[in-house]
Amino acid sequence: MLRPRRYRQNKVLRDLFQETQLHLSNLILPVFVHDQVESVDIPMLDGHQRLDEISLIKYCELALSKGISTIAIFPSIDNEKKSSDCLEALNEDNLMCHVTRRIKKTFGNDLMIVGDIALDPYSSDGHDGLVKDGEILNDETVQLLAKMACIQAEAGVDILAPSDMMDGRVLAIRDALDTNGFNHKLIMSYTAKYASSFYGPFRSALNSAPKSGDKKSYQMNIANRVEASIELDLDVSEGADIVMVKPAGLYLDIVSDFRNSCGLPIAAYQVSGEYAMLKVAAQANIFNFESALMESLLCIKRAGATIILSYGALEVADMLNT
Ligand code: PBG
Repeated sequence: MLRPRRYRQNKVLRDLFQETQLHLSNLILPVFVHDQVESVDIPMLDGHQRLDEISLIKYCELALSKGISTIAIFPSIDNEKKSSDCLEALNEDNLMCHVTRRIKKTFGNDLMIVGDIALDPYSSDGHDGLVKDGEILNDETVQLLAKMACIQAEAGVDILAPSDMMDGRVLAIRDALDTNGFNHKLIMSYTAKYASSFYGPFRSALNSAPKSGDKKSYQMNIANRVEASIELDLDVSEGADIVMVKPAGLYLDIVSDFRNSCGLPIAAYQVSGEYAMLKVAAQANIFNFESALMESLLCIKRAGATIILSYGALEVADMLNT
């Protein structure tokens, strides 16, 4: 008789039969930067700060020393630089481009940079697209995003990551990159990005919450699974190199669907609210933070993700390195 407990008798056997491993090389660490002389704590995201430029460089060194070699940079833009036309996004010397040049000069190809392509950090309306009479303009936004991607690519961003959910943006970004000499730059598309409640700490970090309305006219309905396959087909045909599911932990059915129907690398974003929940629950002694974090990430990987973005990447590195 097959007795599955035979697989679990001792640690060596358990390890022998372990199907999924977390590797540091598959993790991406999201980082926040601002244009101030000192770093400032992000209260909802314990352990994370809006970093000043010098601290950002040190943080990159720290990440590399622990084995994390890809970061996703999110710039916190000063309020006076936000506008309804979001033109700061196209400023070649904006904070994102500036810190990217600095990081690339210091670390070259040892550290890969992911650049977020969406207008919300630059928008006085707090939306990912241009807003007119309460509507989010699709095609006008896409034109801007394509330019934004080229500007970030020029500054040295390695992986362009459209997180805006406008229709047609991957194609427009791919075309713009290719015609401007950037055919080697990767696109990691936020393919199935849901209108989730779990983005709160991120929006507080960037002060980027929508000023009116919500993001439901562009981010996906949380109740929908089949519709994600439409987004997937489009992003594959438009030229995405990596397709992402976001959030991660509550959306493992989507991760698994993507794995089963697509050969591209799949990324999953364990978002700010997922990470904050782990922190708060651990502080309330509901569980041990490290083991819960590890479980959450292993399960995302088991569902089929190759790449995981997590605010806990450095903490996982400490666990795997000891
Ligand atoms: C914005 C963007 C968001 C996140 C990544 N890019 C927030 C949003 O869509 O409102 C969320 C990430 C997180 O919560 O960790 N384009």
